[in-house]
Amino acid sequence: MNMAPPPIPSFIPESAPFTPEQRTWLNGLFAGLFGLQDGVTPLSSPDAGTLLAGLIDGAAVPAEPEQIDDGADDGAPWHDPAMPLPERMKLADGRPLPRRMMAAMAQQDCGQCGYNCKDYANALAAKSEKRLNLCVPGGKETSRMLKQLYTEIDGATLPAPAAPPLQPAAPAITPATGRSRANPAVATFLSRQRLNKEGSEKETWHIDIDLSSTDLDYVVGDSFGVFPSNDPVLVDAVLAAIDAPPDFPILDRTLREVLAGSTSLSPAPDILFDLISYLTGGDRRAKAKLLAKGGDPDGDAASLDVLAALQKFPGIRPDPEALIEALEPLQPRVYSISSSHRCTPGRVSLTVDAVRYDIAERTRLGVCSTFLGGCAAPGDKIKVYVQKAQHFALPENPETPIIMIGPGTGVAPFRAFLHERQASKAPGPNWLFFGHQRKDCDFFYEDEFSAMHAAGHLARLSLAWSRDGNDKVYVQHRMRQDGSEVWAWLKHGAHIYVCGDALRMAKDVETALTDIVAEHGGRTPAEAVRFVGELKATGRYQADVY
Ligand SMILES: Cc1cc2nc3c(=O)[nH]c(=O)nc-3n(C[C@H](O)[C@H](O)[C@H](O)COP(=O)(O)OP(=O)(O)OC[C@H]3O[C@@H](n4cnc5c(N)ncnc54)[C@H](O)[C@@H]3O)c2cc1C
Ligand SMILES: NC(=O)c1ccc[n+]([C@@H]2O[C@H](COP(=O)([O-])OP(=O)(O)OC[C@H]3O[C@@H](n4cnc5c(N)ncnc54)[C@H](OP(=O)(O)O)[C@@H]3O)[C@@H](O)[C@H]2O)c1
Repeated sequence: MNMAPPPIPSFIPESAPFTPEQRTWLNGLFAGLFGLQDGVTPLSSPDAGTLLAGLIDGAAVPAEPEQIDDGADDGAPWHDPAMPLPERMKLADGRPLPRRMMAAMAQQDCGQCGYNCKDYANALAAKSEKRLNLCVPGGKETSRMLKQLYTEIDGATLPAPAAPPLQPAAPAITPATGRSRANPAVATFLSRQRLNKEGSEKETWHIDIDLSSTDLDYVVGDSFGVFPSNDPVLVDAVLAAIDAPPDFPILDRTLREVLAGSTSLSPAPDILFDLISYLTGGDRRAKAKLLAKGGDPDGDAASLDVLAALQKFPGIRPDPEALIEALEPLQPRVYSISSSHRCTPGRVSLTVDAVRYDIAERTRLGVCSTFLGGCAAPGDKIKVYVQKAQHFALPENPETPIIMIGPGTGVAPFRAFLHERQASKAPGPNWLFFGHQRKDCDFFYEDEFSAMHAAGHLARLSLAWSRDGNDKVYVQHRMRQDGSEVWAWLKHGAHIYVCGDALRMAKDVETALTDIVAEHGGRTPAEAVRFVGELKATGRYQADVY
């Protein structure tokens, strides 16, 4: 009897940054290497993942996560970005290590680390991923907890911290360019345009980036990863604090270039305080040691970025190379895409709120939002990638009604949805809930949305201004006011989307939706919760929150 050859097992996760051809070739290579045809036991997937990561660039490509399904999720109650870390850890207490590691993360499944939270946790627990500092939204709090948990792994010694890469590694196999943080494409910064008018308390920018030098495209709902550079003024201040020459050579770059492009100058890492403790004595040494252990001897630990940490110990002169090794690598940030490639091919738009705040007479800068909203100049080359949305997309059926709830920068993907549906002449009705502080100065894309409304493309446009009157009016208040209509749209199969602040807004919107289902859908509170849960499970309620 003729037997078909057994299918080649898949060692390469779907999310790995390879083309189908590369994936097939790699799977074939691994199958051959591990002697699968001869019945030899294959390497376990973490081993394969490690090998793969080593083949490419251990510092840049996430290894294959081990798929641990230990039945310990129990609804994963700790998977909630609105919950502070200590509470999440309490909920995960007593669970297997990967679950506790997952609870330590910021729980946004934002993908900035190259995984979702569960896969990152599984990969760490399986030791196929050794970088404990990848969680951008979780920051120092998360990496500290991960360090603590990592020591529970049998036989595991704490991996050396992933220091900033001093020169790009040459991958043996090049992942598809611009499809993951592992191999970004080089695009051109085109322009920024302020979206707030005079009188606003916010600084939000419409950003355009030219993709024509890349072969990148995207679909609406995707996010866009940007590798920023640090503010040159901050870099110079760090150089001055250690009295180091900007042109000090670090491999093939200067110290200034490495500080600007490869190191995070945000929260001072514990290891920087360790380094400082070796360079000082007496009380200063004791203080640095305490800070390195997460202590707060002067009550200012939370405000210590790299510059503030160095200035706290005036006169220390770490060797520039040692300083670089003591810093965290500068990580990319992702932004919801606010354009449709169908309408503006070769270009991508973002809607970026610039993070600036004052601590101790110095304005602190969100590194990427102020890079896009201030430092980058037209014509500058920037490293970027498209991060595919996992569960955030327009309905397949163009006739399906959609309800979009996006206050502030949360409106970004919905501008993209509206452009896409306009260009594709999708007949399904569109309803946008937008809210911000003040109508006169914070109504982003007012002309566009008003024109869409007048033309009927936006069947409904519901607006909520939180600082125009005595009472806060938020998007969920408008939803409640129009509750019977929201329910009618849902009955007609509408998909509902929410984007923006994960900590408060998204939760409040879900509560409002649940209340609407109960009140207008004639359900008990428990039935309404189940109904909303089913909307989520069937992809009819999707969130892109951060
Ligand atoms: C999927 C996804 C989509 C996103 N889409 C968008 C988008 O469309 N538009 C957008 O603007 N952002 C978006 N973000 C957020 C974005 O990725 C960045 O997190 C944001 O721009 C801040 O990054 P940054 O590098 O400028 O700031 P960072 O350098 O990372 O600094 C931010 C940190 O500064 C601290 N901080 C901020 N304000 C204060 C304060 N007042 N006091 C003390 N500390 C403070 C906080 O610790 C905060 O985490 C998105 C995030 C995700 C995950
Ligand atoms: N990681 C970061 O550093 C970073 C950077 C940028 C944005 N973000 C997050 O993304 C969010 C979006 O920022 P943004 O500038 O676009 O807008 P925003 O600050 O969220 O504000 C948008 C509107 O939402 C209102 N709002 C506040 N609380 C709300 C709630 N519980 N429910 C509904 N609406 C609420 C605000 O009102 P009031 O302010 O008047 O109360 C404002 O009118 C931020 O809140 C922040 O959490 C984070």
